Amino acid sequence: MCGIVGYIGENQATEVILEGLQKLEYRGYDSSGVAIHNTKGLVVKKMAGRLSNLISSIEKDPINGNLGIGHTRWATHGVPSDENAHPHTNKAGTIAVVHNGIIENYMTLKKELMEKGYEFKSDTDTEIVVNLLDMYYEGDLLKAVFKAVERLRGAYALGIISSNNPDELIAVRKESPLILGIGEGELFVASDIPAILNRTRRVIYLENGDIVRLSREGYTIYDSEKHVVQREVNEILWDVEAATKDGFDHFMIKEIYQQPSAIKDTLFRRLDDNGDIYLENINIDKKYLDSINKIYVVACGTAYHAGLVGKHVLEKFLEVPVIAEIASEFRYGNNFVDDKTLMIVISQSGETADTLAALRLAKAKGARILSITNVVGSSVARESDDIFYTWAGPEIAVASTKAYTTQLVAFYMMALNFGKLKGTLDEKLYNDYLQELKEISEKVGYTLKKVEDLAKEVANKVKDKRSLFYIGRGLDYYTAMEGALKLKEISYIQAEAFAAGELKHGTIALIEEDTPVIAIATQQEMYEKMVSNIKEVKARGAYTIGITSINNADLENVCDKVIYIEDTISNYMPLLSAIFLQLLAYYTAVVKGNDVDKPRNLAKSVTVE
Ligand code: AGP
Repeated sequence: MCGIVGYIGENQATEVILEGLQKLEYRGYDSSGVAIHNTKGLVVKKMAGRLSNLISSIEKDPINGNLGIGHTRWATHGVPSDENAHPHTNKAGTIAVVHNGIIENYMTLKKELMEKGYEFKSDTDTEIVVNLLDMYYEGDLLKAVFKAVERLRGAYALGIISSNNPDELIAVRKESPLILGIGEGELFVASDIPAILNRTRRVIYLENGDIVRLSREGYTIYDSEKHVVQREVNEILWDVEAATKDGFDHFMIKEIYQQPSAIKDTLFRRLDDNGDIYLENINIDKKYLDSINKIYVVACGTAYHAGLVGKHVLEKFLEVPVIAEIASEFRYGNNFVDDKTLMIVISQSGETADTLAALRLAKAKGARILSITNVVGSSVARESDDIFYTWAGPEIAVASTKAYTTQLVAFYMMALNFGKLKGTLDEKLYNDYLQELKEISEKVGYTLKKVEDLAKEVANKVKDKRSLFYIGRGLDYYTAMEGALKLKEISYIQAEAFAAGELKHGTIALIEEDTPVIAIATQQEMYEKMVSNIKEVKARGAYTIGITSINNADLENVCDKVIYIEDTISNYMPLLSAIFLQLLAYYTAVVKGNDVDKPRNLAKSVTVE
C-alpha cells in the first residue's frame, strides 16, 4: 500500500516527512520521494528502492522548507522506477501530487489530456491527476482540486502543493484512508496514524469525499458536496506498534479482516463502464483461447491451493483440460508443455524460487505465461507475458490469507472472461456469476462476523490436540488443504486434508476417540456423500465439526458442531469456507502463545529451491 505524509508548519518539512515515511515502511513499498516548497520553488527528490537511499541522498543535499509532501509507493500501475516514484509534477514544476489508490478511468483521462497537448513522463495513473490540476488551475489551488476530483473515478488519497500557493496544502480522501493530524502551529496529513504519532496524538479521520485545505492559520474541511464540515478530533492512545496493525493484535488478523475490501479492490477496479470484466495487462483473445489444448496451473503452498480452485472453474467455463502441479514437482512432470500451453503461475510475493523455476522451464518449452501476483514488478511479473495483479496490498503475515482469497477472485474473473470470449460460457450464466461476484465481498464480511466467536470456541477445543483432519469433496477438498496448511504453519499442530471419499482406503485407521475432524460440506451435489463420510468418522469416535451454508438437519444430527457460513454459488464457496479456517488457525495459534505473524522455520517468501 502506498504511504502519504504531508506537512505545513514551523518545523523543517523534510525532517517531519521522512520520519513519517519511515513509520509507514511496514506497509510495503518499492520507491519513495518528497516535494518541498522553499525559495527555489518546489524541490522534488524521488527514487526507486529503499527509503534509506532517499534519506542518504537528502542528508548529502538538504532541502529546507516548511511545506511539503512525501510518499512511499507500492506499485500498481508502472514498475518501480525513479520516473514512476511520487511526487508527480506538472510540466512547469509548479504543482506536485502524491497519491495512494487507483484511478480507474485514468486511460480515458490520459487520452483527453494528451489530445490537449499534455505529455507524460511516467507510466502511473497519478500523473493524470497533476496534469488535470494544471489544466484547471487559474490561481486558486482549491478550486482546481474541486474541478479535478469531479473527473476522477476510483480510489484516491491525494496530497497536493503548489509553488504558487506556498501557504497551503490540499488533501483529498476517497476510499483510500487519510488522516489529518493537528499539532501546535503545525498540521499533518498521512495515510496512517504511525506516520505522525511522534508529533501529535490529535487526529481527524477524514471521511469519504472529504477535501481539506491546510494553512498556517488552520484547516478547513469540505465534504463531497463542497460544504464546510466539522469532523471529530480523536485523541490517539495507541503506541506506534499497535497503530501499524490498525489496533489489531497481529498483522494476520488485520489481513483477514481486510479481505472484504481487498476482494472489492481486485474486482471493481477491473470493471469497464458497462460493469463488464476488463482484464488490463492480459492480452488473451478468442483466437488464442481456441489455439491452446491445455492449461497448466503451477504454484506453491497456499497459492497452489488457489490454483486447484482455479483449475476447477477454468475447466468448467473453458472446457479445456487443466493440469495443476506443485511448482517444485513440475520439473519432473512437464512433458506436455508446448506452444499450445497456457501456463498460469500464482505467487503472492512473485519471488518464490520453485515457482520461478517452473515458469522458466515452461517458457523455454514455448508456453505462454500468465501470472497472478500481488507484487508489481516482481520477478514472476517481469517474466510473464500477461499479469493479473491481485492488488490486495502488502501481505505482512507469513500465513497467507487476503492473497489467497484475491487469487481465487482472480481465477473467477479470468474464467468468466475467457469463457465468455471463447463462447463456452453462455451470456446469462456469465452475467449471473458476475453479479454474484460483485456481492461476494459483503458475504465475506458477514461470514467474518458470523464465525469469529465460533472459531475462538473451536480453537480452545482443539489447541492441545495431537492432530486434526480436514475432509471434503471437490472444491471442499481443496479448501480442506488450505485449512490444514493454515493450522499447521502457525499453531504447529499436525493437520491433514483428505478427499472425504479416500478416508476408508486407509486413513480412517487413525481416527480414535475425540479426534477432531473438520468436514467442509458446501457442495450441494456432494452433500449426501459427505454426510455419509462424516458418519463413518463419527462412528469411530471423532469430534466432528461441519462447515456448510446449507441449512440441513442431516448435518446437525451427525456433527458435534455445525459452522454456518453465508451462502453463494458452489464455485465461490471456497471464498467463504476459508474464512472460518483462517480464523480457527489464527485463534489456535494465539491461544498457544505462538508468534502468529512470524511462525518458526518459515519465511514470507521462499526464495530458495
Ligand atoms: C501460505 O500461508 C504460506 N506462507 C506459503 O505456503 C506460501 O503460500 C507459499 O510459500 C507461496 O508463496 P508465494 O505465493 O509468495 O509464491
